[in-house]
Amino acid sequence: MTADARRAKENAARYAAALVESGMVVGLGSGSTAELAVRALGERVRAGLDIVTVPTSRRTERLARLVGLVVREPEAVDRIDLTIDGADEVHEPSLALLKGRGGALVREKLVASVARRVVIMVDESKLVPRLGARFPVPVEVLPFGWTWCARWLEELGGHPVLRCRGNGRPFRSDNGNFILDVRFDSIDEPHALARALKALPGVVDHGIFLDLADLVVVGTTSDVKLLRPVPR
Ligand code: A5P
Repeated sequence: MTADARRAKENAARYAAALVESGMVVGLGSGSTAELAVRALGERVRAGLDIVTVPTSRRTERLARLVGLVVREPEAVDRIDLTIDGADEVHEPSLALLKGRGGALVREKLVASVARRVVIMVDESKLVPRLGARFPVPVEVLPFGWTWCARWLEELGGHPVLRCRGNGRPFRSDNGNFILDVRFDSIDEPHALARALKALPGVVDHGIFLDLADLVVVGTTSDVKLLRPVPR
């Protein structure tokens, strides 16, 4: 990550962390920008902020504990007031998101779906004119029968590739599942594609996040720009 990209992510993360208030139950996203926000929250907690958090990945959970945040399992909280998370792509003006390059999409979508407010932190490189412009769509599938899922994804027009680690073994999500990174030539109807992906047997969830973001904080090297969804 360049110094400028880091500064932009840091500005977005600090802005989002400043939206958190004492008494809140806060969802913690995953990825480098979310981790900057977790560190900023750690600073605020040391200065007296009183919150409970629900991390969306083991990695974020480890960092949250390290910086002194109170961590709870989802079943131990009755609500999520606010979740702060990164994204791989943000479509303007709908604020449709593509997420999951870090492999935490299932928990991220669950937490975002239950949260009263979803704040997404990105730098300007994440803004795209069309979903899927830069990255494939991550689809989390059960390891059992994953090649059947891959075939069905091809029938939907996708080009699935099993995500692997550096050692060539399949990547496993925190849920123990595989991820297929599926390139589509063009995603013209994200809602229809999202429904079709979710309807496939063996698919746990996918990285298309629609109608979830309430605010996107776009960090620049000097400031932030705020994007709010335009009704469809
Ligand atoms: C994690 O699974 C992803 O959804 C992340 O939110 C996404 O990859 C953004 O990561 P960065 O903040 O590191 O760019």
